[in-house]
Amino acid sequence: MLQSTLLATFAAVVPFVAAQRTFNVTEAFAPGNWKKYHCIDTDAVVALLPTCLAECNYEANAADGCAYDDIACHCINYNVYSPIIEKCALPAEYGGAGACTDADLGIARPIVNDLCNFFNATLYADYTGCPQELSPKLTTKLVFAEESIRLDV
Ligand SMILES: *[C@@H]1O[C@H](CO)[C@@H](O)[C@H](O)[C@H]1NC(C)=O
Ligand SMILES: *[C@@H]1O[C@H](CO)[C@@H](O)[C@H](O)[C@H]1NC(C)=O
Repeated sequence: MLQSTLLATFAAVVPFVAAQRTFNVTEAFAPGNWKKYHCIDTDAVVALLPTCLAECNYEANAADGCAYDDIACHCINYNVYSPIIEKCALPAEYGGAGACTDADLGIARPIVNDLCNFFNATLYADYTGCPQELSPKLTTKLVFAEESIRLDV
């Protein structure tokens, strides 16, 4: 009784956010994506995004435990990655130390969503034969530790 009350209170204060690998296959397989994202590395991701995110992207990609140019890993590693880049890139009004405006973030969000939806859905399939160092062990470990949610079935 006491224990369940404590648990309920704890859950209310700190919502349990289980990592969930979410993806929409229809979106991931949209024409052009396999080519667009083939062998994509950090520099190529930075080139897709507003410039206010560049330094934070370099920083987060070097700091989350994934191989630097392994975008599949950075996407799956959202729980570690996201606080790093948000703290760096978000303006003070959102608790960050960065210089991105709402307009910048509005541009970045759908780009990152599409990129990470693609990698959440395909993992390393589109990295076959690519030159960069990858961290499939870490990615696989994270994938097995969480639920995977396919949106379009
Ligand atoms: C990709 O999966 C991670 C968990 O592995 C999740 O946190 C993230 O929100 C997903 N990204 C998208 C765009 O669905
Ligand atoms: C999945 O993606 C397709 C294509 O963009 C979209 O029409 C559909 O609404 C998405 N499904 C969900 C559940 O978000």
